[in-house]
This record gives sequence, C-alpha cells and structure tokens, in this order.
Amino acid sequence: MKAIPYGRQSITEEDINAVVETLKSDYLTQGPKIAEFENAFAEYIGSKYAVALANGTAALHLCALALGVKPGDKVITTPITFAASANCVRYCGGEVVFSDIDPETYLLDINKVRSLLEKAPKGTYKGIIPVDFAGRANDLEAFRALADEYDLWIIEDSCHSPGGSFIDSHNKAQNCGNGNFADLAIFSFHPVKHIASGEGGMITTNDKDLYEKLLQLRTHGIVKNNDLYTNSIEFAGGQEEYPGWYMEMQNLGYNYRITDFQAALGASQLKRANEGIIKRRDIASVYFDAFDEKPFIKGQSGVIKGHAYHLYVIEVEDRLGLYNHLRSKNIYAQIHYIPCHLMPYYRDLGWVEGDFPHAENYYKQCLSLPMYPTLTEDEQAYVINEINTFYNDI
Ligand SMILES: Cc1ncc(COP(=O)(O)O)c(C=O)c1O
Repeated sequence: MKAIPYGRQSITEEDINAVVETLKSDYLTQGPKIAEFENAFAEYIGSKYAVALANGTAALHLCALALGVKPGDKVITTPITFAASANCVRYCGGEVVFSDIDPETYLLDINKVRSLLEKAPKGTYKGIIPVDFAGRANDLEAFRALADEYDLWIIEDSCHSPGGSFIDSHNKAQNCGNGNFADLAIFSFHPVKHIASGEGGMITTNDKDLYEKLLQLRTHGIVKNNDLYTNSIEFAGGQEEYPGWYMEMQNLGYNYRITDFQAALGASQLKRANEGIIKRRDIASVYFDAFDEKPFIKGQSGVIKGHAYHLYVIEVEDRLGLYNHLRSKNIYAQIHYIPCHLMPYYRDLGWVEGDFPHAENYYKQCLSLPMYPTLTEDEQAYVINEINTFYNDI
C-alpha cells in the first residue's frame, strides 16, 4: 500500500491548465485572477467581501491590525489550535488568554469564556478568536451575543471549515465565515486544507470599513484614490489634479499579497469544494460506523451536521503505540494539536501544565486519521483494519 497521509491536496488537469494559462498571461501577481477568486469565494461562503492574501497567518495578522489590537490588549482563544490563531495577537503586542475546550466538541467552551469575562471588569478583554477546529462550526450566534455584552470583536478562524455551517436559533444554516456574526473570518489554502493554492489565505467580512482597511494593509498601507490623499496636489507634482503616478502610504502595512497564479489555482479548486465536502462527510460516516462502540475509542469526531471534516479525530488508549503501528504500515496519522499554551514560547509567558485539563487530556489521546477527498474506499478500509488489528479487535 502506498503512503497514506492524514491530508493531501488533489490537483486536476483543469487546475494545472488554470495555472498555466495565468503563467502565460500578462500578470504573475495583482492580476484579474485575484478578484475572480475573491468574488467566487465570497459567493461560496455567503459574505459580502473577501480579501485574498499570502497565507492564513497573514490573514490573522491583518485581522488583528484592522481591529486595532494594541500592546497589552487581552484576547481569548482556544489552546487546541495551530499556533497562528494565537500568535496574531502577539504580533500586535497583545496578550493571549487561553480558555479550555469543551471535551465533547473540542471547541472553545463558551461557558468558560463567559466565566472569564464575568470575573474581570468590563473592558479587560478586547476580542475572542473561536476556531472551527477540525471543521466543526462554533455556534457563533451564541459567541456574538456574549461578545456584544462585553463589547468584544470576534475573529472566526475558519481555516478548517470552508463549507461548514451551524444551525442558528431560527433553524437557519449559517455558513462558517459568512460574516453574519464574526467581525472577520479567516481561511488558509495550505495544501492539506479543503482548497489548496500552495500558500494562500482569505479574510471574509460584511463590514465595508474593515474591508477597505484590509485592502490597504495588504499592500503596505498604500492608498491610490484622489479623494483620500492628505498631501496637496501641488506637493504631489500636479497642477489641477493629482498626477497618474501619485500614491500615498498612509498606514504601516505589509506585502501580504497572493500571486495571480496561486489565485487561479484557488479559484479552480473552489469549483470542486462542494464535491470535496460531500466526500469528506462520506469518509467521516464510514469512520464513525467502524469505531462506534469500540472499547478502545474514547471519543471521535462523529457524524455532525454542518461539519466540514478538515480532520477526523479519534481519541484512543495507547495513542503512541497506535501512531507507531500505523507508521509501520505506511499510514501517516497526525496529532492536532499539541496544546498551544504548552508550546515553549507560551510557557515562557506563564502558562503551565494543568491550566486546561480538557485540552491537555484531549492532547494525550487524540489522533487525526487520513481524511481527504481522494482517499479511496480500499485505503480507508486498510486504515480501519490496521487500527482494529493494533487493538486485537478483528
Ligand atoms: C486553525 C489554523 N489557523 C491558522 C492557520 C495558518 O494558516 P497558514 O498555514 O496558511 O498560514 C492554520 C494552518 O495551518 C490553521 O490550521
């Protein structure tokens, strides 16, 4: 059996043609494919605006900047996430306050967040970054209500959940990242994600002011708009109007642009996003049926409506033994995640073992199984069989 990773991209001839066509065009970067990708993505997610970026980490950084995170600002997030969800706060000098997960959903426990907020004077915290971990949607309506009570902003980290949704109190499906509840949402197009562009990221929002700020910050803080210039026409070297070359750098921004050929790949992949989700849900239901009621399974992602299944997680006894057994059989399961608060960088900031029992207990027994649309039935059966074999349960 060939190597089976936990996640991988799928590239079709159509994807390759889309990239090659862009390489042969006049634009390698800042060309028409970026707007095409942004518009198609906003439509897919159901948000008003989308801003394509170099990667998901850049997206998080710009969100924190656009929302005005300053040194000392406290922001709440989950320890069970990729470090970038927390690091964006640190880039702006803010303080990350981790809060424990719900052991059933593996998501930030809103009740724990509420008690953090209740214990501190109003104004202590500035924002919350819920992460749709593994592809399971947070109940953002509930988070919005809580955030409004305490005047907080929300960045939804939807890197795992494009195509995912939750059911709101009106029984309506709300897509992850649609901007109806979070101020900003971010996505990644790293190859293991649902949509691959090599490196790539996206921010979605329904807020026009934030959208315009993000466009500026993506390109060095540069403005190219006669109505917004603050230097005079005379200074700019014009007579009646600003000359064609003129532009102003009005804020400290970055070069966080995506290239046109990456956007072409992303846009081409997006056309298959729905198909991919359907396949991921099928794979999840096969895992669920295979492991339901197995004595060695302590928890699993399960079959959850609206789950986007970036990952399928099982919690098991002797996780190390199983991990090594699977590797010896060419199956590369993975751990998501080592709790972020126990990374040496965050330990140095004062976090210690025992701070978040649910996250730490989850980490000791979690394993992400192969989950990607091109995983074949035979490959999945082989994975399941090897797990059963390891536990002598065949
Ligand atoms: C939850 C989460 N947030 C943020 C990121 C960062 O995205 P990128 O790798 O595109 O910078 C990732 C990607 O690994 C992620 O999984």
